[in-house]
Amino acid sequence: MNDSMTQPFAPVTADIQAQLPAFSSAEREHMKTRIKQFLKRENAVLVAHYYTHEDLQEIAEDTGGKVADSLEMARFGHAHPATTLIVAGVKFMGETAKILSPEKRVLMPTLEATCSLDLSCPAEQFNHFCDAHPEHVSVVYANTSAAVKARADWVVTSSIAVKLISHLSDQNQPILWAPDRHLGRYLERVTGADMLLWQGDCVVHNEFRAKDLRAFKEQHPEAAVLVHPESPESVIELADVVGSTSQLIEACQRLPNASFIVATDNRIFYKMKQMAPTKIFYEAPTAGEGATCRSCAHCPWMAMNDLHSLMHTLQTGGNEIHVDEDIRIAANRSTKRMLDFAASLK
Ligand code: 13P
Ligand code: SF4
Repeated sequence: MNDSMTQPFAPVTADIQAQLPAFSSAEREHMKTRIKQFLKRENAVLVAHYYTHEDLQEIAEDTGGKVADSLEMARFGHAHPATTLIVAGVKFMGETAKILSPEKRVLMPTLEATCSLDLSCPAEQFNHFCDAHPEHVSVVYANTSAAVKARADWVVTSSIAVKLISHLSDQNQPILWAPDRHLGRYLERVTGADMLLWQGDCVVHNEFRAKDLRAFKEQHPEAAVLVHPESPESVIELADVVGSTSQLIEACQRLPNASFIVATDNRIFYKMKQMAPTKIFYEAPTAGEGATCRSCAHCPWMAMNDLHSLMHTLQTGGNEIHVDEDIRIAANRSTKRMLDFAASLK
């Protein structure tokens, strides 16, 4: 893997949300009401990620939809009887829904919302990686394109990655992992698995800084540190809990600490505050608001999901996800395998 393969995307602006027209709280409420009516009329259900704007999270929950991590978004959308799924998140989440439920119409507020991990792992290069290591079982993070999932043996999300890698490692399987290098390194370390790692990273989590986090911890010694495993190894080393978004939300309710330093996208605070209203949450320090900060703890692509784009999708039926059928069938094998594995853990 060379370095140029890891960052093939253009720099992104952190404040896409700020560029959108502002509107009053009365207009906001009016839009929310209209969106709820549209969802009902279209027999549609809204499935949103924890990193999306709180307006969207609220609508999803008020209308029988779901706010969840990427595994639960996939499972919920697949199991739900609605004929249209509206997926608020980034493109791989919409594609995963379509891979699992080809009979459903899958729409997204925007098709522009990608993910730096997905971008770091073009299918052709991933195919070469697999061809070069035929004795390895390939496991890809859900944050990949349908074409990459189609080539992989397994798809996995962070909430069950440790369990799946341990399961494969117990069978003495050497593993080829893509694309997140930090999550891969973490899995290698906690499971002892024999892994070859692709060198992608997340623009949000890669910005958290261990040195600043250590200093912040000294100022807040009572706070527990919650870290998403897409963060650098030096940040993970300072964590009290490492886990997927839903596992971090669960931890802030379960742990006795009155405060938490959180190293993941700051939109997660909406759900954390809802679930643990008496507790205090601090953002873990990132590279800073200066020239080097591309994300500042909020995913620029998740930020593209807003009331305007959601309303537009519902009104026009635009932004439909399509996946080539040959690719879909192959990707369904590795993605469904993930859901079956997750179900077997219960
Ligand atoms: P989760 O599966 O933990 O929700 O993570 C998805 C993601 O994109 C994190 O950056
Ligand atoms: Fe991708 Fe990172 Fe955004 Fe998650 S937060 S969608 S991993 S760029």
